Amino acid sequence: MNADGRTRLNQTPEWTALAKHREELADTHLRELFAAEPGRGAGYTLQVGDLYVDYSKHLVTDETLRLLRELADATDVFGLRDAMFRGEKINVTEDRAVLHTALRAPRDAVIEVDGENVVPKVHAVLDKMSDFADRVRSGAWTGHTGKRIKNVVNVGIGGSDLGPAMAYEVLRSFTDRDLTVRFVSNVDGADLHEATRDLDPAETLFIIASKTFTTIETITNATSARGWLVDALGDDSAVAKHFVALSTNAEKVAEFGIDTANMFEFWDWVGGRYSYDSAIGLSLMIAIGPDRFREMLDGFRLVDEHFRTAPAETNVPLLLGLLGIWYDNFHDAQSHAVLPYSHYLSRFTAYLQQLDMESNGKYVARDGKEVEWQTGPVVWGTPGTNGQHAYYQLIHQGTKLIPADFIGFAEPVAELSGELRAQHDLLMANFFAQTQALAFGKTAEEVRAEGVAEELVAHKTFQGNRPTTTILARELTPSVLGQLVALYEHKVFVQGAVWNIDSFDQWGVELGKVLAKRVEPALTEGAEVPGLDASTKALVAKYRALRGR
Ligand code: F6P
Repeated sequence: MNADGRTRLNQTPEWTALAKHREELADTHLRELFAAEPGRGAGYTLQVGDLYVDYSKHLVTDETLRLLRELADATDVFGLRDAMFRGEKINVTEDRAVLHTALRAPRDAVIEVDGENVVPKVHAVLDKMSDFADRVRSGAWTGHTGKRIKNVVNVGIGGSDLGPAMAYEVLRSFTDRDLTVRFVSNVDGADLHEATRDLDPAETLFIIASKTFTTIETITNATSARGWLVDALGDDSAVAKHFVALSTNAEKVAEFGIDTANMFEFWDWVGGRYSYDSAIGLSLMIAIGPDRFREMLDGFRLVDEHFRTAPAETNVPLLLGLLGIWYDNFHDAQSHAVLPYSHYLSRFTAYLQQLDMESNGKYVARDGKEVEWQTGPVVWGTPGTNGQHAYYQLIHQGTKLIPADFIGFAEPVAELSGELRAQHDLLMANFFAQTQALAFGKTAEEVRAEGVAEELVAHKTFQGNRPTTTILARELTPSVLGQLVALYEHKVFVQGAVWNIDSFDQWGVELGKVLAKRVEPALTEGAEVPGLDASTKALVAKYRALRGR
């Protein structure tokens, strides 16, 4: 016990038992585990919704899983889960409820925050979004000159960009192909320039997405976009038909000059990185249509319900969270790879980086003390086959343990036909081959048996024992995307709960923002910035010289 009466995580008997168990398993190879349990391949699997989850290629036994569940029990993961679903203020440092699950709750659900049922508000905004999306898609909403809207540009950053940008890529084959949809996030003017240079302003709708409506990158880009539009259309009043806002901050939206009638609201109990199924998804909804968007929400809800009600033994987010903890805390794994075998999921891992790393990249526990255990891993990865020809070498034969999620689909998207459709089996052959190679490797004996020269045997040997999860679904649909995202959201939740950190704040991004504001006048005006360190000072001077200032 500490002075505050709490037992530190790494002093619990459950933690100690896992550490001891890890030592006992130190020399165990997946080859042995599979040899000892013929049913392991089909047995170590779970199904949630459309997702078939195979965890057989993990360095675990039934005993490992039991001990991990005991750790979850001891840290009251399900207690915190229930508090989250109930709308309690589990984001302790910001004193906020955490209710992204309310964004996909059915119309008749009752979820209260401060005594108010928030579900009617959620559905009112969804209905308003649907109406607007339909009007844009049908051509009923026209621009200032009466032209039909053909281009939609979402301006936002972080959670106000990554979710819709990722989902737009994932669901491209479900989008209205006559609409051009782009995403601008970077304050580098090149981003907005490239996104707009071939567009007709009279046909372009800007969606300014910002929870706070104070984020400097977004407000700067939004101001430039407004300038681009007003210059071209020659009339300030054009803004009304070409700008809408997604925000929690009506005052700032009005201050920017967007009519709050054209604002789609969300609330402080929706974290930025958990927000793309809120109003933040408007660009996506315009692209895929309200019905597909609601199918996606149904997918989220399905996994929410599973996480809320499934027993520990079959609870998939719990399992994935605990497996991550097993490697992060008991195998010293520093990172976690997410490797989709779908071109459409090309931005999925980038999305997960914010979800996971902004949530669990923390060294201070909920009790305000520094943790004495590892927290969130580095999350990384790109579509699988491309990775195979780039960095998989390190996963197979490097000195670091990198647990990886492989995500694949039985069917290619419906749009693919002929030879392109036939290529899918080759894609998936790679998918299955990789997890097999990672788990079982290739022994020196097997290499020798191929007649390899002795001096090359070590180089061509694969130790194997590299753990992977395989997530397989029939097809990548809006609902399946919702299921996948909710699965990772809740996995991240489980880990934060065990590590006793607040997964819903993000104080770590503040310092850089403050310093950028302070440094800017030094760049533009050569102003003396008090407290600037010698290195940064010299760099700023070099920058000014290079710019001829
Ligand atoms: O700086 C980090 C962050 O606050 C993220 O958490 C958030 O998703 C992003 O900035 C954008 O914030 P906003 O939606 O308020 O513009």
